[in-house]
Amino acid sequence: MEAVLKTKNINKYFKKPVPFHVLKDINFQVNKGEFASIMGKSGCGKSTLLYILSTMDTDYEGELYLNNQLITGQDKNHLSYIRNKHIGFVFQFHYLLSEFTVLENVMLPAKKLAEKSLKEIEFDAMQKLKMLRIEHLAKKRASRVSGGEKQRVAIARALINNPSIIMGDEPTGNLDSGNAENVFNIFKELSIQQGLSLLIVTHDQDFANKTDRIIEMGDGRIIS
Ligand SMILES: Nc1ncnc2c1ncn2[C@@H]1O[C@H](COP(=O)(O)OP(=O)(O)OP(=O)(O)O)[C@@H](O)[C@H]1O
Ligand SMILES: [Mg+2]
Repeated sequence: MEAVLKTKNINKYFKKPVPFHVLKDINFQVNKGEFASIMGKSGCGKSTLLYILSTMDTDYEGELYLNNQLITGQDKNHLSYIRNKHIGFVFQFHYLLSEFTVLENVMLPAKKLAEKSLKEIEFDAMQKLKMLRIEHLAKKRASRVSGGEKQRVAIARALINNPSIIMGDEPTGNLDSGNAENVFNIFKELSIQQGLSLLIVTHDQDFANKTDRIIEMGDGRIIS
């Protein structure tokens, strides 16, 4: 199996307000095309782990690999490049720029990457919107679309640079069951049709049951 993401003995400590061993010997991998979910009680360390895996937190022990490349210890600029190019994020709250149109929001990470012309980026962004069946919203301001639509815009934005993996921290946590199912189906389609890997933190047992694998965390460890 080809690993897209892999950790070796990741440990993390918070020093304040009191010393706290928050992540303990985290060893696991996500394979190409695999749709994995992470579950576990509130406070067990899921978001802390995702923060490290997404290269935003560099204060940990152990090693992180993306596409067999060692990420740990790379400098800030390179990390930011890797993040933008290879990782897509979807959070519980969408963090769209409300004054910008849907299309502009989706284009943003590609503009930042600056590997394509504006025309190409706009074309790609429209393709993603079509894939998510929201192309009719392209010119609307992000503040003017519904919660479920916003989340699909956020997914389109996460996909714009054709990442190897999508990471999500409760991406359906703020959605009703119909919209949550929509998001699940979109993720599933992406993993099957495009070989995209997904690693999604969720509290929704129904959502998790439908994924390829549930990674269960407890007290800072992976327990199954
Ligand atoms: N910056 C921080 N400094 C100190 N402790 C922190 C910090 N961030 C989180 N923690 C603690 O680390 C533990 C893990 O937090 P984390 O946010 O990763 O949990 P979680 O599994 O995502 O929970 P939830 O399901 O509620 O989102 C918790 O006990 C939390 O209080
Ligand atoms: Mg969390």
